[in-house]
Amino acid sequence: MKSSEIREKFLKFFESKGHTIVRSSPLVPGNDPTMLLTNSGMVQFKDVFLGLDTRPYSRATTVQRCVRAGGKHNDLENVGYTARHHTFFEMLGNFSFGDYFKRDAIQYCWELLTKVYMLPAEKLTVTVYFEDDEAYDIWANEIGVPKERIIRIGDNKGARYASDNFWQMADTGPCGPCTEVFYDHGADIWGGPPGSPEEDGDRFIEIWNLVFMQFNRDEQGVLTPLPKPSIDTGMGMERLAAVLQHVHSNYEIDLFQALIKAAARETGALDLANNSLKVIADHIRAASFLIVDGIIPSSEGHGYVLRRIIRRALRHGHKLGQTKPFFHKLVLDLDIEMGEAYPELREAKARVAQVLKAEEERFGETLENGMKILEAQLAKDAKNLDGATAFTLYDTYGFPLDLTADICRERGVTLDEEGFAAAMEQQKRTARAAGKFKMAAKVEYAGEKTKFVGYESLAHNTHVLALYSEGVSVQELKAGQEGIVVLDTTPFYAESGGQVGDQGVIGNGVNVFEVEDTLKIQADVFGHHGLLREGSLKVGDTVDAQVDTVKRARTIRNHSATHLMHKALREVLGSHVQQKGSLVDPDKTRFDFSHGAPLTLDEIAKVEMIVNREILENHPTQAQHMSFDDAVKHGAMALFGEKYGDTVRVLDIGSSKELCGGVHVTRTGDIGLFKIVSEGGVAAGIRRVEAVTGEGALALVQSINRKLQEAAGALKTSPDELPSRIAQVQDQVKMLEKEVAALKSKLAAGQGDELVTKAVDVNGIKVLAATMEGADVTALRETMDKLKDKLGTAAIVLASVLEGKVSLIAGVTKDATGKVKAGELVNFVAQQVGGKGGGRPDMAQAGGTDPSSLPQALAGVAGWVGERA
Ligand code: SER
Repeated sequence: MKSSEIREKFLKFFESKGHTIVRSSPLVPGNDPTMLLTNSGMVQFKDVFLGLDTRPYSRATTVQRCVRAGGKHNDLENVGYTARHHTFFEMLGNFSFGDYFKRDAIQYCWELLTKVYMLPAEKLTVTVYFEDDEAYDIWANEIGVPKERIIRIGDNKGARYASDNFWQMADTGPCGPCTEVFYDHGADIWGGPPGSPEEDGDRFIEIWNLVFMQFNRDEQGVLTPLPKPSIDTGMGMERLAAVLQHVHSNYEIDLFQALIKAAARETGALDLANNSLKVIADHIRAASFLIVDGIIPSSEGHGYVLRRIIRRALRHGHKLGQTKPFFHKLVLDLDIEMGEAYPELREAKARVAQVLKAEEERFGETLENGMKILEAQLAKDAKNLDGATAFTLYDTYGFPLDLTADICRERGVTLDEEGFAAAMEQQKRTARAAGKFKMAAKVEYAGEKTKFVGYESLAHNTHVLALYSEGVSVQELKAGQEGIVVLDTTPFYAESGGQVGDQGVIGNGVNVFEVEDTLKIQADVFGHHGLLREGSLKVGDTVDAQVDTVKRARTIRNHSATHLMHKALREVLGSHVQQKGSLVDPDKTRFDFSHGAPLTLDEIAKVEMIVNREILENHPTQAQHMSFDDAVKHGAMALFGEKYGDTVRVLDIGSSKELCGGVHVTRTGDIGLFKIVSEGGVAAGIRRVEAVTGEGALALVQSINRKLQEAAGALKTSPDELPSRIAQVQDQVKMLEKEVAALKSKLAAGQGDELVTKAVDVNGIKVLAATMEGADVTALRETMDKLKDKLGTAAIVLASVLEGKVSLIAGVTKDATGKVKAGELVNFVAQQVGGKGGGRPDMAQAGGTDPSSLPQALAGVAGWVGERA
C-alpha cells in the first residue's frame, strides 16, 4: 500500500466515524512561546484541549507534518542510526474534544488496524499506563487481546508521571496517560517487547500512541484536570508504511526509496544502503518543510534548528565525496513524492531550493576547512575531542555542536561537551564586557515603573526618582559626570521594536542633563543615559524633560515609512516577506526581511511608488489597544517569535496594520518623500533595505542629482545622454587598449632583434640574459619565442621591472634542456632578486621584489650555464 493510500484510508476511516478532516498546521506553532516546533498532531488543538478555544466540531482527524529536532522531543541525533527515527515525519491522528474517550478510541484503533489495514492481530502488542485498569480491561475483555500481549508500564523515567506511557506535549501543557500499539517485525530482528531489557531493539516498533488527555501541567509541574477528558492519538505514517509495505526499516518505504536514490544520484554514492543517504533523505524533508513554513537558516531559534539540519546533511554529502552544492537539487524529487499531498510545498519549491542553495554556498567553504581542523586534531588524539576545538569549529567554521557530535559518534570519539559549554560561556562574558555602555543599563532599581507620555507630548514637568553613576545608585550627579536618570513620568521613548531611544535635555534653570540615549533598564523602567553638562541633579528634583523634537520627528517619519514599506514589500515580492530585524533612527530606516533574491530596479521602484502613493493619500494614523486575538482578526501583522502581552497596540498606518509600541506620524503625509537608498544581502535568504524620508530623502535626491551633473559635465554631455556617452567612452577605451597591446608587441619585437646580438656562446649554447624596459609578461613571452627561433640552441633569461616588481622568464630550446633546465635557471636568478618561480624544462617564469640586485643576477647567468654545458 503506497504512502498516499495510507494517508487517504486513515482520513476516510475517521471521517466515516464522524470526524472532520482538518488540514495540517504549519511547523511553527502560532503564538505559543512554550513550543518551538510542531512535534505532534495535537499541537494545533492545544487550546481546545485546555478549554481556551472552541471549534465547530468535537471530533477531528489530521495528517500533521511534524519535526522533532529540538526541545522536549528531539530525534535529530538518532537519524541515520536507527530504522525508525526522523527529524521530519507525518503523524496520522484522531482527536476527541470532550466527545468520546478511552473505549471508542481503542475500538477505532483496533478496527482500523485489523479491518482496514488488515494487520494480523497476533502481530500486535499493546502497553497501558500501570494504573490504568480501565484501558487494560478494554483491551483484554472487549477487544480480546491475550493478556501476555498487554503490558503495564509504570513511571519508568524516574519521577511521578514520567513514563513511556504518560505523554506530554512539552514541559507545560496538556498531558495524560496513554496506551500504545506495537508491531512485531519478527524473530529474525533483534529486540524485545516494551518494558523488557531489549526494548530498544528494532523488533517491536511502536506504531500508534493513544493519549487520554486528562491534565494540564503548569510551570511548577502541578497537574490540574482538563475541563473535559479528551483523546489525542498519533500514528507515525512512515512506521505504518514500513509495516504495510512489508519492509523493516522506514527508510525502505516507497517515498524514502525515491529520495535515497535521488541523494545517491546527486552525491555519486554507489551503495544505496549507506547511512549518509538516509540522513540526507530525512533532512531534505525537514529542511524543505521548515522553509515552506517561513523559516530561514539563521543563528538562533527556529532558524538555527533549520541550519543544524541542513549542515548535518551537507556534512554527510561531503562524507560521500560531494563537495559541491547538491542538497537543493533534491527539492524537485521531494516535490514529486510529497507535492501532491502538500500543495504548499509545490507552490514554494523554487524558493525552497534557492534558500537551500544559498546556505550550501555559505557553508561549503568552511565545511572543507573545518574538517581539516578536525582531522588534524583527531590525528593528535583519536579518542577525545576537546571542547576548545569543538568551539572553534562552531564559532569560526559554523559547525553546530550536534554536527561535530555526529562525526565523533561515527568514529567512537568522546566529545568534551562541558568544555564546549565553558568556551561558549567565556566568549559570552567577553562580548558582554565589550558592550559596557549598554550593560550600564543593568542597574539595580526597585522603585516605581515609568509612565510614558511621549505618544502625546514631547515636554513634561516631572520628578527624578533615581540616579546612577557608573552603574551605582547615587543621590546626586554633578557637572561633567555621566550617568542615568530615572523619572516618574517621561516623554522620552526608550529604544524598542527597532526604534532608537530619544535624545534631548532634562533639567531646570542652570541644571542641564543632556540625554544621549534612552534605554529600558527593566521592563517599563526607562533610563535616560547622558552627561550632566551644567549644575547638578538630585533625587527628588522637579525637572523639565524635553525631547529633541527635530530628531524625534525625523525618527517617527522613518518608523511610519517602515510599516508602509513592509506592507509594500509583501505586495510586490509576496507574502513570504517577513520582518527579520529593523533599526529606525533619525537618519534612516534599515529593514531586514526574508526574501531569496536581490530586488530588481523595477521592484524597488514599485515599492517606492506604493509607499509614496500612501503618503500622498494622507491617511490619519490610528492606534488602538485590543486583545491579541482581536488584533489578529483585525488583520494586524504580528512578528514571528515576538512575545506579546494580553493587550496589544495595533497601528493602522495607510493600509498597513501592525502590532507596534513605537511612536508614529499623525498622518502619512507627514512622512514627505520616501526613497530607498540601498538594497543588499545580509545572510542567506535575508535582504536589507535602507530608506530615507522627509529632508533625508530630499537630500538624497539632491545629492544624486549633483553627482549626475558633475559626471555629465566631466564627459561634456547632459545627464540624459550620460548612459550612451559612457558606453561610447567604454568602446573607445577598449579600442585603445587593443592598439596599445599591438604597439607593445611591435616594440618588443624590435627589442628582440637588438637582443640577438647580445647573446654569447657558451660551449655551443647561445646564452642571453637581458632586461626589457617597460615590457609586461606577455611581451616577455612573445620576445622569448622569437629569440628562441632566431638563436638556435639557446638558454635565455628576460627580465623587466614594473612598479618595483621584477618579472622573469627563462627559456631553453628543446635541444639544450638535457643540460640546462629553464626552471632551475629562472630560480637561479629569482633567488637573487628576492623571489622564486618554476615551470617546464623549456619555459619557466618567476617574480621578485628586489630590482636593485637584478643586473648582477643577470650577469651571473652565462657562468651558471657554463657550469652545466
Ligand atoms: N501526542 C501524542 C504523540 O505525539 C499522540 O498524538 O505521540
